Amino acid sequence: MTGPIGKPLRRVDGPLKVTGGAEYAADFNRPNQAYCVLVPATVGKGRIVAIDIVAARALPGVVDVLSYLNAPKLPYGPHKVFIDPGVGERLHVFQDDEIRFYGQPVAAVIADTLDQAEHAAAALKIVYASERPVVDIGEGVAPIVPEEATRPGSRIRSDTARGDADAALPTAEVRVDVRYDIARENHNPMEPHATLAEWQGEHLTLWSKSQWVNSEQDEIAAILGIPPEQVQVICPFIGGAFGTSLRSWPHVTVAALAARLVKRPVKLVLTRKQMFYTTGHRPRSAQRVALGADRDGRLTALIQEGLGETSRYEQFIEALTSAANFMYSCPNVRTQYRLAPLDIGTPTYMRGPGEASGAHAVECAVDELSYALGIDPIELRRRNEPQVDEGNGKPFSSRSLLQCYAEGAEHFGWAVRSPRPRSMRDGRLLVGMGMAAASYPSGQMQSSALARVRPDGLVEVEAAASDMGPGTYTSMTQVAAETLSVPMDEVHFSLGRSELPPTPPQGGSLTMASVGSAVRDACLALRTAAAEVAVADKRSPLFGSHPADLEWRDDRLFHRSDDRRGQSLHDIASSGGQTIEAQATAKRSMEVMSRYSTHAFGAVFVEVSVDPDVGIIRVRRALGAYAAGRIVNPLLAHSQCIGGMIGGIGMALMERTVLDPRDGRPVNAHMADYLVPVYADIGEVGAIFIDEVDPYVNPLGIKGIGEIALIGMAPAIGNAVYHATGIRVRELPIRLEHMLVPSA
Ligand code: MOS
Repeated sequence: MTGPIGKPLRRVDGPLKVTGGAEYAADFNRPNQAYCVLVPATVGKGRIVAIDIVAARALPGVVDVLSYLNAPKLPYGPHKVFIDPGVGERLHVFQDDEIRFYGQPVAAVIADTLDQAEHAAAALKIVYASERPVVDIGEGVAPIVPEEATRPGSRIRSDTARGDADAALPTAEVRVDVRYDIARENHNPMEPHATLAEWQGEHLTLWSKSQWVNSEQDEIAAILGIPPEQVQVICPFIGGAFGTSLRSWPHVTVAALAARLVKRPVKLVLTRKQMFYTTGHRPRSAQRVALGADRDGRLTALIQEGLGETSRYEQFIEALTSAANFMYSCPNVRTQYRLAPLDIGTPTYMRGPGEASGAHAVECAVDELSYALGIDPIELRRRNEPQVDEGNGKPFSSRSLLQCYAEGAEHFGWAVRSPRPRSMRDGRLLVGMGMAAASYPSGQMQSSALARVRPDGLVEVEAAASDMGPGTYTSMTQVAAETLSVPMDEVHFSLGRSELPPTPPQGGSLTMASVGSAVRDACLALRTAAAEVAVADKRSPLFGSHPADLEWRDDRLFHRSDDRRGQSLHDIASSGGQTIEAQATAKRSMEVMSRYSTHAFGAVFVEVSVDPDVGIIRVRRALGAYAAGRIVNPLLAHSQCIGGMIGGIGMALMERTVLDPRDGRPVNAHMADYLVPVYADIGEVGAIFIDEVDPYVNPLGIKGIGEIALIGMAPAIGNAVYHATGIRVRELPIRLEHMLVPSA
């Protein structure tokens, strides 16, 4: 029997989603609930001088107003997990009069209806003593060394070096030394942040949009100073997140506080505008990449220096310069990563965090080098393909980047590309083809799961987890059904509850490897538990057998010496009339971690057209070729990858949060002016997967694709735009005005 892993199955939760049966955080309602509206600071730095609540309080339906004037002093106990900045302290909401950035929550209004709460929030009078904030890394801020990135064992390094890149660069036969600047981006998922908080005695239930319900439980418990057992977080569905719901931002605390204050359930939903203020963003970055090569294109020097913005109260770090250490073979490599602390809210992870920005600068610089050398950009990369991870000397658990180049180029039709920039046309349109390589670390974090079989034969599998869109309900059902050799429709997988066995966040491309491994282990443990039940059950044909003499063949448990004495999992549960369950915890083997370098790789190919008269850039075709180990569900993986690639179109051509330098206000905090790709912006987008068997990365051979799907897209587009026009834009997003230069 061939199991469901690897089959292009449709989403098991698809019918729920298309019929409106899937409930997202803001869909939940509780009897007698009140509505809470946040009031954001309208200055970028300073102090609150006065909050006049008299007029607001007098409005109909208003229940109460919360601010630092009446909020309880909260313990804000220590709670740092790996997604939190290791240096600094999270924003303490309503604990003092200081304004640290524009949009910081300064008050909350609770009313009987949403309209009443919004009306009253607008009627609050807040007086500030304001100062001019510094909100741009270009404003002469002295960069700092990210402290966490200097600690031994940190996954992100402030400085790395092998050989002497600075000495090798000036003597290189061919050099490229360029700077790339990438705009701040906001995640802008369809679903807004939302939390419904309800207290029952000392117990708090949060229906809350979260990529990590276990961490939200612990975080809110630590903030409020109550045991985590008294907090439950529920999040069965997420309408996209891209990293913005990894941390628990202040609105979750405010909802819990407000519910406690008014002794009613309280619902708090952020507005689209508020999602530009306090829920993280992809940090603005500035980079220098310098490459030296010999005439044959062999790299002799690679320098990457990156600067990212952070807040003044936390040092957010991301892997901006990490991939430079292992992407290409080069004897002399130096990377440097610095931070600019600004009067802004703390940035956070956004799909392909660090890697997407870092790869943009390096992959565009490699493209620039290819023109300086007159070597095809794929060929140039091939000539610099390393045999091992030269950053740490370890072998790759698998690395199929050359196959990504070959199969991707073939599928895309790279061969018809003429090498010279501005040499391809379609009518009056300039046409260009560009490509870029991508990588993302393949991690696995400790995860638990539980599996049980009921007497009626239904298998229930549970893990805390989240599903922000990749199809986790479906892929976990596939793993369970495959491991147990039962049909998909006999397995029911639950997630999104903090009381279920704990998992890592849905982020970092970790879920399939981590939770998938736990689901597999729980199902294997369930088989063991079922065998023990069978040998103890007088009605079982296997009664009295020694468990060591039993073995599972497909869906049935047999005695090794007797092919007739077999029972299915369902038989065993129904015969005993009892539910059998088992829990398991899977974690990454230390041996794998110490012996191998584990990454997914990809190559992205893009064709753009540029209107030479008005500068409009269109992505006509894009193809991603990904090597990411075993693909559990090619249909969902394809969907996930083209979604990431479309995110990359946004990064390359549209997305940019613009701050007013006078007060730090995001001036385009709405979907009319913060542009994201819509259907009309997307041509033909496709993804293919390289057959890759990785025997080391984890028992399932899974590498994860969530992040790599976006990484590489922006540089492939930038490189295609250059090929089309001969205009090298070293800034993202690449905009129409960049194209309006006197033609060559
Ligand atoms: Mo993603 S940035 O790992 O949610």
